[in-house]
Amino acid sequence: MDPPPTPPPHVVIFPLAAQGHVNSMLKLAELLALSGLRITFINSEHIHHRLLQHADIPARFAAYPDFQFKIISDGFPIHHPRPSDHFLTTFDYVKSITKQLFEELVSAPDRPVTCIIADGILTFTIDFAGDLGVPVIAFRTISASCFWTYFCIPRMIESGDLPIKGDEDMDRDVTSVPGMEDILRCRDLPSFCRVADLSDWLLQYVTTQTLRTTGARALILNSFDHLEGPAISQIRTHFPNLYTIGPLHLHHKSRLSSSSPSSPPPSSASNSLWEVDRSCISWLDKQPPKSVIYVSFGSITTLTRHDFTEFWYGLVNSGRRFLWVIRPDSLADGGNGAVPEELREAAAERGCIVGWAPQEEVLDHGAVAAFLTHSGWNSTLESVVAGKPMVCWPFSADQQLNSRLVSHLWKVGLDMKDVCDREVMERMVNEVMGERKEEFAAAAGDLARRARDAASEGGSSWDNLDRLIEDVRSMKPSS
Ligand code: UDX
Repeated sequence: MDPPPTPPPHVVIFPLAAQGHVNSMLKLAELLALSGLRITFINSEHIHHRLLQHADIPARFAAYPDFQFKIISDGFPIHHPRPSDHFLTTFDYVKSITKQLFEELVSAPDRPVTCIIADGILTFTIDFAGDLGVPVIAFRTISASCFWTYFCIPRMIESGDLPIKGDEDMDRDVTSVPGMEDILRCRDLPSFCRVADLSDWLLQYVTTQTLRTTGARALILNSFDHLEGPAISQIRTHFPNLYTIGPLHLHHKSRLSSSSPSSPPPSSASNSLWEVDRSCISWLDKQPPKSVIYVSFGSITTLTRHDFTEFWYGLVNSGRRFLWVIRPDSLADGGNGAVPEELREAAAERGCIVGWAPQEEVLDHGAVAAFLTHSGWNSTLESVVAGKPMVCWPFSADQQLNSRLVSHLWKVGLDMKDVCDREVMERMVNEVMGERKEEFAAAAGDLARRARDAASEGGSSWDNLDRLIEDVRSMKPSS
């Protein structure tokens, strides 16, 4: 009698319930589904509901019969109000249900699980899956440089680079992160490192989570070898199974085009959790080429009223046209009623404000010259791919470091970190869009070409994804 056929590889993908994380892990999920793997994507009920409302999820994933969503609660009723950083408050609940969730998935007789690709900050998955004999691959959604810096925190403490001794210490060079000696000052370290007390729980948390990643079978990063060479080569010495497969949004488009060359080029896959206001595209269509600065601070950042007002004055006084995303929850104390009348008039003349934009499409638009960004990793990659110079105003986490890569390693923009001042902003916007625009545009254009090379057939990210798929196929499904 013939042996029963081997079931197809089945990958469970488990992101942290936040826009930046779900966005990139869904793109990875679609890339794996495209290669014929079975996929189960674990999504919180709240996020899933928002994706169904605002993204083209059902139509996109209908193309993959072996793709399914597994919806879990985050501990709150679906319509209960959640702050923008609710993934932190719901973290413990999600951890408490994960073991049972994995047991259920692994014991499903029709879909034995081959491996779990888990968000790299959900490292409790490594233990839970290990108990069930299922390998875990960790996916960190931050930059490779930030991951490597977190990995080096014990080394920074040992050498005396940490703790930072106060404001007067911020411009001191950090010398104990190998490969990044010429890049980092104290002020460029991720925000969690800005603590006087080394027992600070967030510092401890990112350190233990990052070191724990070595327990995973492999590591995936949304980056490409040319972009972050110094950090990636160091990470490889600790993680031989490292897959740099980014920029994922570009890679996703390249693979879709190559799988159906006769179809029109795929548009940006929307994984948006907010209602997209497309009126800004009609507005952009009416603006002269390369005349607009796009302003957005991602999905989590909240501004104080002081910062908000400085941004208004800086943008208006620059005299440039601007498209600004002001989410309904953008202001720490709610509302935007305090905007002076003179600014409103200027905005009506040369500004456009929306609650949420189709960002990839905006960045690709010919009217957009530059991006004023909080330096979230997805936004940074999207700007790199679109070849748009940046003015960076990093807010928290990896953003302090990402903005340093922009200004110092790639030289595609300016870093405004730790300052929120209308005059500085006006000057930087005009530098990037005026006096130094050729220099920045040339560097950004070159980096965009490198990104396209990496994510095209034969490029480093393309080859790495092929290796990852082979690795997954070589794993034996649990049964
Ligand atoms: C967070 C962290 O900030 C980031 O540094 C980390 O790497 C991942 O999690 P977030 O702050 O939301 O994410 O920023 P970012 O990573 O830039 O992601 C925002 C996403 O929302 C981008 O993909 C961007 O295209 C999208 N977006 C933003 C829109 O589609 N429309 C908008 O109007 C604004």
